[in-house]
Amino acid sequence: MNWDAYPESTALPELLKLQNGSPVKTPEDWMKRRRPELQELIQREMFGYLPAPQPFTATVTKTVPDALAGKATLKEIRLKFTQLPPEAPEIRLALWIPNRHPAGKIPVFLTLNYCGNANVTTDPHTTIHTDRFCSKKEWIGQRGGQADFWCVEQVIDRGYALATYHESDTKADKNEWNDGLFPYLKSNQVPAGSQPATIALWAWGLLRCVDQLAQEPQLDPWRICLLGHSRRGKTVLFAAAMDERIALVVPHQSGTGGMALSRENNQETVERINRVFPHWFCGEFKKFGGNEPRIPFDQHAVASLVAPRLLLDTEGDQDAWANFPRSLETLQAVNPVWKLLGKTGLVGSGLITSVTEIQPGKVGELLQLRLPEKHTLTKEFWTGILNYADLMLPE
Ligand code: GCU
Repeated sequence: MNWDAYPESTALPELLKLQNGSPVKTPEDWMKRRRPELQELIQREMFGYLPAPQPFTATVTKTVPDALAGKATLKEIRLKFTQLPPEAPEIRLALWIPNRHPAGKIPVFLTLNYCGNANVTTDPHTTIHTDRFCSKKEWIGQRGGQADFWCVEQVIDRGYALATYHESDTKADKNEWNDGLFPYLKSNQVPAGSQPATIALWAWGLLRCVDQLAQEPQLDPWRICLLGHSRRGKTVLFAAAMDERIALVVPHQSGTGGMALSRENNQETVERINRVFPHWFCGEFKKFGGNEPRIPFDQHAVASLVAPRLLLDTEGDQDAWANFPRSLETLQAVNPVWKLLGKTGLVGSGLITSVTEIQPGKVGELLQLRLPEKHTLTKEFWTGILNYADLMLPE
């Protein structure tokens, strides 16, 4: 490997400096020049290039006006990509819209689920699909395996819609490349080492769901929020970095390759994540295993691309593997970008440890909410996330 183009730096690469060495002084310098440079870098060297959007037809395959015991209307929508061959997989989106909500357009949380939409809630109306890959065998064909995790009723009761699709609609979570949408979305224009890997394909699917949600008459296109857990937390951070339509991103316990810095990461190293999950990041990223100081960016560069929007990093203090201290450092490292764009950014250190601390003036666009929890999503996390969304999303 010739490392000439990758000088070693144990310090975090500077965000507010263009590749040609000029300082980034104005919001325009950031949005028009530095942001595109960083988007190019993280795609080429880490995630692979996000494929271009594809036109699709959206067919509502089911509408249930009294889903969730009458609390929500369930809409199941199939996104069929009209310029791909007919056998290319469709994305099956499930959307629960609250039947009771404050006047006006409804904000929405979009998530990526592990094992099919019916796994998200015990509600009997959601269609069960068993034709896609799911690594948890016990969840296949079963309803509500993760109902306590997604807390759909709680989200609905708070006046938010919830939308979700199964990751395997776009790419199964395994190191095989002949299923899902990869065969149709890989591009001859892109070098092999920068083809979109699994996380980029999952993110692409989320962004196509955003295309659809932005058209839903009841939903507010200015209050589309993305939430993902762990490997899917890495995914939503990348998606929000690439697309300004996301108003709030919650990379929940996203760890290495997400909010946690790769340099001096004493939990999951880049070498380990590439070895155990070789399909998450593109081929180019492999060379950085054991060579972290040569990465020409770090995870703060990915997070910085969310500016000036809302970035809520939720962590559990019993989830050391996700490296929440190194994630808090990411928030601190990106704060100058929010400031440059005229925002508050962090208030104080940016860390709170109780949902009751989410109060006007006490939190900014950048926040780590660290609760006494393990590697999971709970009602209490949702309370914090929804309180933060109530307080911080645009009116
Ligand atoms: C593994 C992996 C993490 C990942 C996690 C998850 O623990 O090492 O990087 O975030 O799985 O997705 O739950």
